[in-house]
Amino acid sequence: MKIILVVGARPNFMKAGPIIKAVREHNRRTDKPREEIRLVLVHTGQHYDQAMSGSFFNDLDLPRPDVHLGVGSGSHAVQTAEVMRQFESVVLAERPDAVVVVGDVNSTLACALVAAKISFDSKGTRPLIAHVEAGLRSYDKGMPEEVNRIVTDHVCDLLFVTEQSGADNLLREGTSPAQIHFVGNTMIDSLLASKARADESAILERFGLRNGRVDQTEQYALLTLHRPSNVDDRETFVNILEGLRDLSQSMPVVFPVHPRTRKRIAEFHLDGALDGIHLVDPLGYLDFLCLMKNAQLVVTDSGGIQEETTCLRVPCVTVRENTERPVTVTQGTNIIAGTASQNIRAAVKKQMMSGSTGLIPEKWDGMAAFRIVEILAAAIERKQSSSLIDIESAAVEVTAAMTGSTQPETP
Ligand code: UD1
Repeated sequence: MKIILVVGARPNFMKAGPIIKAVREHNRRTDKPREEIRLVLVHTGQHYDQAMSGSFFNDLDLPRPDVHLGVGSGSHAVQTAEVMRQFESVVLAERPDAVVVVGDVNSTLACALVAAKISFDSKGTRPLIAHVEAGLRSYDKGMPEEVNRIVTDHVCDLLFVTEQSGADNLLREGTSPAQIHFVGNTMIDSLLASKARADESAILERFGLRNGRVDQTEQYALLTLHRPSNVDDRETFVNILEGLRDLSQSMPVVFPVHPRTRKRIAEFHLDGALDGIHLVDPLGYLDFLCLMKNAQLVVTDSGGIQEETTCLRVPCVTVRENTERPVTVTQGTNIIAGTASQNIRAAVKKQMMSGSTGLIPEKWDGMAAFRIVEILAAAIERKQSSSLIDIESAAVEVTAAMTGSTQPETP
C-alpha cells in the first residue's frame, strides 16, 4: 500500500514525525509484502526558512521529503492555490491508496481538497483521505485555521481526533460515527519521545537562565505571538504587551519571534514597549521544548503550545478569545485570557499563584500514531478488497454479457 503524508508548516512537523515512525514499525512487524506501507513524504514548502522548517527535520529526525513543492509565502488564496496546483500532479503520478494531512494550516486544506477531487479513472477512483487532528473547533470563522479545519474535515474519509470535543463537534456536524477515531495526539507522541533529548539542550545556559546545575534554573516566562489577529493590529499587539508589563518586571520573558511578528515590531516601532522582554530568533524543536518545560509560565497565542504545556504541566495563559482545544482548559493548565491588558494581567497573576498542574488528557500517551497507522492500514485493506470484489463482479458481468448467461462460468 502507498500513503502520501503531507507537511507544510512548522506545527505540522511534530504531528507527522510519529506517523513516519509508526509506519516503519508497522513494516518491521508485518511479514506480508501486501501489507507493507510505502510512505511518500511531501513538503509543500509553506514554511521554508531553516528556523521554521529545516531545523525541525534535524531535531525530529525526519527523513528528507520525497517531494518538495517549494511553494513559499503568499496570500491565502495564492498559497492554497499553488499547493493545490502542484500537489495534483504528485497525486496523479504516485496514485496513492491514501493521503494523510495533519493540523489546520493552508497546506492541510489544499492537499485534502486535491485528493477529494482527484480521479484516477473514469469511475472516479481516488485515494482515501485521512485528517490527523480532526474535529477541533474554535467557532471563530475569522480565524483562517477554523476555515481550514471545517473544510478539511468535510472532505476526509477518516477523522483522527485528539480529544473528545473533536468527536462531539464532528457528530454535531453530521459526520458518520464510523469515520471518527479518537486516537490521541501525535504532537504529544513527539513531545514524549523527545523530552529526554530536550533536557540535553544548552539553551538555558545560552540565555543565562541556568548556571551549571540543573536545579539552579532561573525563574523566567516564555512568550510566543504570531497570530495575524494579534500582531497585525497595532492596538491589539500593544494591549497584549501592556498586559505583560508586571510579568516582565518580575522575571525575564523570553520571546522567540516568528518572522511575521518580527516585521510588525519594526513596522509599529514597538521596541520601547518590550522592556524586560527578550527577543530571540525562532528556536528549534528541542531548544523550545527545553524552554517550555522549565518555564514558570508560558504566554501564547499558538494552538499546539496550549497542548504541550498541558502535557508538561506548565501553566499557560492563552492570549486569544477562544480555543479549539478545550481539554487544555477543562483538564490541563491553560487559561483563556483574551487580549485586553487587564484580563491578561489577571490571568498571569492567577497562574503564578495557583500552582495547578492539571491532568493529562485521555490517550495523550505517546501511542496515537500507532493507532492511526493500524486503523489506516485496515481501511486501505478493506478498500482494496472491496475494489477487488468490484473488479470480480465487473468481470462476471462482462463474461455474462459475452455468453448470454447471468451465472458466472465455473472455472
Ligand atoms: C502558519 C499557519 C498557522 C500556524 C503557523 C505557525 C496558516 C493559515 N497558518 O501561519 O496556523 O500556527 O504557520 O508558524 O496556514 N515566513 C518566513 N519564513 C518561513 C515562513 C514564513 O519568513 O519559513 C514569513 C513570511 O513573511 C510569511 C509569514 O511569515 O508571509 C507568514 O507565513 P505563513 O505561512 O503565511 O503563515 P504563518 O503566520 O506562519
